[in-house]
Amino acid sequence: QRYRIAALPGDGIGKEVVPEGLRCLRAAADAYGFVLDVEEFGFASAEYWLRHGEMMPKDWREVLGGFDAIFFGAVGWPEAVPDHVSLWGSLLQLRRGFDQYVNLRPVRLLRGVRGPLRDHGPGDIDFYVVRENTEGEYSSIGGRIFEGTERETVLQETVMTRTGVDRVLRYAFELAGSRPERHLTWATKSNGISISMPYWDERAAEMALRYPHVTADKDHIDILAAKFVLQPERYDVVVASNLFGDILSDLGPACTGTIGVAPSANINPERVHPSLFEPVHGSAPDIAGRGIANPVGQIWSGAMMLEHLGETAAAAGVLAAVESVLERRPDVLTPDLGGTATTTALGAAIAGHITSG
Ligand code: NAI
Ligand code: MG
Repeated sequence: QRYRIAALPGDGIGKEVVPEGLRCLRAAADAYGFVLDVEEFGFASAEYWLRHGEMMPKDWREVLGGFDAIFFGAVGWPEAVPDHVSLWGSLLQLRRGFDQYVNLRPVRLLRGVRGPLRDHGPGDIDFYVVRENTEGEYSSIGGRIFEGTERETVLQETVMTRTGVDRVLRYAFELAGSRPERHLTWATKSNGISISMPYWDERAAEMALRYPHVTADKDHIDILAAKFVLQPERYDVVVASNLFGDILSDLGPACTGTIGVAPSANINPERVHPSLFEPVHGSAPDIAGRGIANPVGQIWSGAMMLEHLGETAAAAGVLAAVESVLERRPDVLTPDLGGTATTTALGAAIAGHITSG
């Protein structure tokens, strides 16, 4: 098998962790017998913006549309480009343009990583956050009136469409149905947000009728956030709107140690367009350039990409290598994991483990 991969390192530590992700993917390709054709692009970065006045070339759809998957680092360099410009001009265009309406984020306490929750060990925390990725609270509908006066008023709308809500719920129910616990929780806030969230509840309740073998319940976002910290073992699949899902999928990984290990997949389930795989973290300007970023989030995102491409054994192999190295090689851990090693040392150790099996 041959796969065409577009690599977009982006900014900051994206440029440091993507090479380690690719190193592990190449090791997996050799070990499991497939070929990756990787093409690297410099757009979706502050550097590109400074040179061209835009984050991506106008024909990005044609440039990227033919690839089997996109391997993305992180975008954002607030010193040079305001964050809403860099993110809206790149990642959000890609997610929407390629209709990647599912943002899938596993939350798992890995062996070898000490989480901040004292009572939980490996195996206790193992769930997925499914975030709606194309509509909801992240709309650009709204504006300001009476600017600069006492009456200054700002409005931004939430958009929920039946198609948009139903398709992400369906994906989440299918996922829950495929897991041993078959348990789905939907995040809501219908006690406070009185129009859009009751609609979300209504669609979820109706979808639940079609999946009688899945136990479905709902939690309001405030108590859900508290329970992520206090009782993360309760959860199996958690589905949420764009904003709630964004928050939960940073909180979840934080409960499992470091945001540096958390992966994500932006999926177009119909496979009409390429899906995009990226770590949860951003470009981390505070540590960029020092070679100490944790590459595991990028490497695990690579494993999710292999899974999506159908290379299931290779995906499992990469994840097993990650866990084994985190558990047995304190000498190659990065500072966020309590070690003193570099990005490259950790990446190379994991790649070596993939190769030796
Ligand atoms: P961030 O995730 O870049 O950093 C948050 C904190 O976590 C920092 O202290 C950082 O040093 C640490 N951290 C993050 N990844 C790490 C890793 N792999 N290893 C070790 N430590 C790590 O979030 P922040 O600071 O809010 O945003 C920085 C820039 O990244 C902004 O421009 C923001 O817009 C952008 N961003 C981009 C994202 C993306 O491309 N998907 C997602 C989140 C933020
Ligand atoms: Mg986020």
